[in-house]
Amino acid sequence: MKRQFLLGAALALTVSASAQTKLLTNGQEAHQIPAEIYGQFAEHLGRCIYDGIWVGKNSNIPNQDGYRTDVFNALKDLQIPVLRWPGGCFADTYHWRDGIGPADKRPKIKNVFWGGTMEDNSFGTDEFFTLCERLGCKTYLSVNVGTGSVRDMTDWLEYITGTDDCPNVNLRKQNGREKPYKIDFMGIGNESWGCGGNMRPEYYADVFRQYSCYAYLYNNHTNPVRVASGSNDFDYNWTEVLLKNAGEHMDHISLHYYVLPIRDWNGSKGPDRGFGEDHYFGVIRDGYKMGDMIPKHLDIIAKYKKSVKLDVDEWGIWTDQEPGTIPGHLYQQNTLRDALLASTTFDIFHKYAYGLGMCNIAQVVNVLQSMVLTKGDKMILTPTYHVFKMYAVHQNAKYIPLSFHSPKYTFNGESIDAISATLSKKDGVYHLSVTNVDSKKENTVTLDLSAINATATGKAEIITSKSFADYNSFDNPNVIKAVPFNGATVKKGELTVKLPPMSVVTIELL
Ligand code: AHR
Repeated sequence: MKRQFLLGAALALTVSASAQTKLLTNGQEAHQIPAEIYGQFAEHLGRCIYDGIWVGKNSNIPNQDGYRTDVFNALKDLQIPVLRWPGGCFADTYHWRDGIGPADKRPKIKNVFWGGTMEDNSFGTDEFFTLCERLGCKTYLSVNVGTGSVRDMTDWLEYITGTDDCPNVNLRKQNGREKPYKIDFMGIGNESWGCGGNMRPEYYADVFRQYSCYAYLYNNHTNPVRVASGSNDFDYNWTEVLLKNAGEHMDHISLHYYVLPIRDWNGSKGPDRGFGEDHYFGVIRDGYKMGDMIPKHLDIIAKYKKSVKLDVDEWGIWTDQEPGTIPGHLYQQNTLRDALLASTTFDIFHKYAYGLGMCNIAQVVNVLQSMVLTKGDKMILTPTYHVFKMYAVHQNAKYIPLSFHSPKYTFNGESIDAISATLSKKDGVYHLSVTNVDSKKENTVTLDLSAINATATGKAEIITSKSFADYNSFDNPNVIKAVPFNGATVKKGELTVKLPPMSVVTIELL
C-alpha cells in the first residue's frame, strides 16, 4: 500500500505502509554521555585549515585576526567540545618550530601526504590554541612520533605549557603569549601501523612507553591525557598487544574507522553524490559495524586496564573526492545518507559511552565528512552539521537504555535494522532521538512515558529529504536542515512518532 506522507508544508513523499516499533525503557539512568563524543578533527589537509578555518588577516574574506568569521561562528554555534590538530598523517611530518613566530619568517613546507601542496605555516601552535580558547573547546594535540623525537616533543610541551625562565617559554612570550596554554589530550603518534611509521604493535608499544614517560605539562608536572595510537577498525591484535605491553602507561587508546561506499582503499571508493540505493544501504550497514567493533575493543581493554578509555578519534564516510577538485585534498559533498550515518553512529557511541573518552569526526571543514564547506567567500552547513547540532542535547546527558525489536530495511536480499534511537536526560529534561533509515517505508515508534514521568512533547525537529543523495549546494544551501516536526503525539501516556523514510528526529519530552 502506498500513501502520501506530509511533512510540514514543504515535502510530499510517496511511502509504503508504516510498521510499528515499541520502544521500552524502565527509565533507569545508566552512564553519562561525555560531550567529547561530539569532537572534531582539523588536519593540515586540503582546504581544512587554509581557506577553511584560516584565511589570514589580509584576506578579503571576512575574518577576525585571520580566522574566517563565517566558519568560526558556525563552529561556535555547534558547541564543539574538543578539537584535534594538526593531524592525522600530517602530524607525523610536522615540526612545530616551523609554525611559530612572525608569519613572514616561517618556512614553507610541502604537505607530502596530501597532494604535495605547499603550506606557508601561517597557522601554527599559537593560532591553534587561540582558536580553541575562542571556541571554548578542549585541545587535542597530536605529537610527531614518525619523524620527530622525544626532545622535539618535550620542547613543544615546554613552549605550550611552561612558566619558567627558559628558552622555549621565553620564545612563546616573545611571540606574544605570556600565559601557558592548556593541553587536554595528547596523541602520541597517529596510525603508527601505517602513515605514522609502519610500525608493528610490539615496537610501537615500546616507543609509546618511551614518549609517554616524558609527556608532561611543564606548568604543573602532571601528565596530560595520553592517547596511544590505536587500531585500524577490526585489528583487535593491535589493541591487545598495546594494552598488554604498554597499558599501564596510557590513559586512552584510539580507534579509526571509516565507512567507504566501496571498500577499496586503492581504487574508487564510490561517488560522494549521485549514487544509488546500493551505496546508501551499504554505507548505513557498514556504519552499524561500529557497534560490533567498539565492544570488542572495550573487552580487550578491560582485560588489561579498565580505566583506559577508547577514543574513536577518526570516523565518518570517505568517498571519492568531488570531481574537479585537487587530488589528495579529500574534498567531498555531504548528503542525507551521510547525515543518517552520523545519527546512527551517535546512537552507538551513546550506548558504549561508558568506555569512550572522545570521538572526532573527520574532518571539521572541507575534508571528508565535514560540518561546513567553503567556496571563495561562501560557506554552507552540511546535513551532518545539522545532525551534530540537533544531537547536541545529548552532550553530558545521562543515557537511558531502550530496548526494541527494529523492523528491517531490506535491499537486494540483505536486511539491516531500520530504526536506531537514543533516550537521554539532562537537567531534568528527556530527549528522544530516532532515525528511520528505510528508504521507502514510513516507520512508527511508540514509547510508554510513564517510566520517565513525562506527559507531553516540547521542541521537536526533523532532518529528512526526498532522496538519500540530496545535499546542500552553494546555490541551494538549505535543501537539508532541521525543521519543526509535527509527527509526534502523546495520547494516554504513550508517545507515538511517525517517521518518514530516511529521517532523523529529536523530541523533547516534558
Ligand atoms: O582523515 C584523513 C586521514 O585518514 C588521516 O590523516 C589519517 O590519520 C587517516 O588515514
